[in-house]
Amino acid sequence: MDQVVDKALRGMTLLKVRNIRHWTDKTFSFNCDRPAAFRFRSGEFVMIGLMVEGKPLVRAYSICSPSWDEELEFYSIKVADGPLTSRLQHLREGDEIVMRPKPVGTLVHDALLPGRRLFLFSTGTGIAPFASIIRDPETYEKFDRVVLTHTCRELAELGFGKDLIQRIAGDEILSEMVGDKLTLISTTTREASPHTGRMTDWIRDGRLAEAVGGALDPATDRVMICGSMAMLQDHKALCEAAGFTEGSNSEPGQFVIEKAFVD
Ligand code: A2P
Repeated sequence: MDQVVDKALRGMTLLKVRNIRHWTDKTFSFNCDRPAAFRFRSGEFVMIGLMVEGKPLVRAYSICSPSWDEELEFYSIKVADGPLTSRLQHLREGDEIVMRPKPVGTLVHDALLPGRRLFLFSTGTGIAPFASIIRDPETYEKFDRVVLTHTCRELAELGFGKDLIQRIAGDEILSEMVGDKLTLISTTTREASPHTGRMTDWIRDGRLAEAVGGALDPATDRVMICGSMAMLQDHKALCEAAGFTEGSNSEPGQFVIEKAFVD
């Protein structure tokens, strides 16, 4: 019997789900127990999902947890007719998901050259890999200043990022590690809030430079970008126009990008 189950799992690991939190009618997060042998670099993603009709149905999800954490946290959108998220959004505590334990990705420190300021630009669920990066000690060993930006359509969607900053502030070890190096800039584009507008517009019109005390500079700044294809393209064009070169795991550079995965 076990052999039949193993074959159906096709190299997947089963993870028990804990702590499900619904942030809005469009997003939710959950934690899973981390298998002892599973290693990853902060910022990487894995394939996770559910067994559906005896077969694994998986999609790419960034791991929100830093590489030292005992749990694996994921942040997901809910798509009513999405093959996976229409099911995943009904997860309950104690349910099991499947994971292919082969983490990969370019939003990792190894893909960036040394620098002084680290900019993490995200929209929507694209904040997920940065939830990992901003809780990794390596981030603060390598950079003097870390600026995380999160842009969503509506105010309620900014909750996950704001809560993350509060969780860091409320944790003795993390808050000491981060000190005053981390800044979160949250903006909305379709609802009034203290800060509005796309971050690409903030870069173009100088609002970002004003908020952080200086425009993006390839000599000192490093950039990670995660969002929709259109968002990536626009941010990438701005980086390239400012003289930044794209990095990869094999050839580190001044900026890196990755699509925020959707159903
Ligand atoms: P906007 O409301 O102006 O489209 P989406 O849900 O469509 O992925 O959008 C998530 C957030 O990303 C929204 O605030 C959206 O702004 C913003 N956004 C969408 N496309 C881009 C882009 N090309 N560059 C920067 N921000 C973008």
